Amino acid sequence: MSNAIPLKNQVIWLTGASSGIGEALAENLAPLCTHLYISARSAEKLSHLENAFSNITAIAADITDEASLAAAVAQIQSEAGRLDTVIANAGTCEYVDVNQFDTALFRRVLETNVLGLVNTVGAALPLLKQSERGYIVGVSSSVAMLAMPRAQAYGSSKAAVTHFLESMKADLTPLGLDVSVVSPGFVKTPLTDVNDFPMPMRITADQAAKEIVKGLRKRTWHIHFPKRFTFILWMLGNLPAFLRHRITAAMSRSTTNTQQESK
Ligand SMILES: NC(=O)c1ccc[n+]([C@@H]2O[C@H](COP(=O)([O-])OP(=O)(O)OC[C@H]3O[C@@H](n4cnc5c(N)ncnc54)[C@H](OP(=O)(O)O)[C@@H]3O)[C@@H](O)[C@H]2O)c1
Repeated sequence: MSNAIPLKNQVIWLTGASSGIGEALAENLAPLCTHLYISARSAEKLSHLENAFSNITAIAADITDEASLAAAVAQIQSEAGRLDTVIANAGTCEYVDVNQFDTALFRRVLETNVLGLVNTVGAALPLLKQSERGYIVGVSSSVAMLAMPRAQAYGSSKAAVTHFLESMKADLTPLGLDVSVVSPGFVKTPLTDVNDFPMPMRITADQAAKEIVKGLRKRTWHIHFPKRFTFILWMLGNLPAFLRHRITAAMSRSTTNTQQESK
């Protein structure tokens, strides 16, 4: 977007900066922007970043707790006087076992990934509207492109995030705000380190952060990577339903076999 504020003039708030993609993004963004506010549930896990960069401030905030997000925004307003970009990155992942269907698991994943992201955007919006050109970035996932086995909770949470952001874009573009959705493929982080299935084309958190920064500079609507992976997933997701279902059922069978072999 031509009249977007350059990164170097921006005050940015990034959630989920204590590990993985958020931590790498903080390290990549801090040297490029005016001031970076970072948050996670515990400020202790953010102190190494705060100590490493003079323009980083760490704030403890739980995205499932609206009061703690309101306090974070109040701190940003009183210290920086403005907020230009929010990057709602914090999230969680749990996979479903259809033989032990657990509705509490759905509640946990949707509470954090969907309502937590909505809470973050809601808290930041009044300040973003006062910015010269406010910018909302939400981290979804490439899983939203294809309904994959065991992703009933995580996949539906990320599909909801993508839909939410696109709908926000419809209403905010006329008000002069920009919105982007980020759809990573597999990225090596504590979140994927526990996965017990193959993760093709997995990249490092630093590579993911660099792709995101590239997208943030241009305010690209859909920031997705690695491109070869997201292209394949997008193609599969757009196949006729009967073909798509054959492929995902085969994936489910092979995942079950892998799990049984590793036991
Ligand atoms: N890794 C991948 O392959 C991949 C692929 C697609 C999408 N994503 C998405 O990318 C984002 C980052 O994931 P990651 O892989 O970097 O995972 P990660 O290393 O587990 O980091 C998750 C971050 O979210 C924070 N967080 C979790 N729940 C929170 C809560 N209730 N309130 C505040 N902060 C909370 C964590 O901080 P604390 O626990 O310290 O509070 C941590 O900083 C997530 O939205 C994830 O779904 C990841």
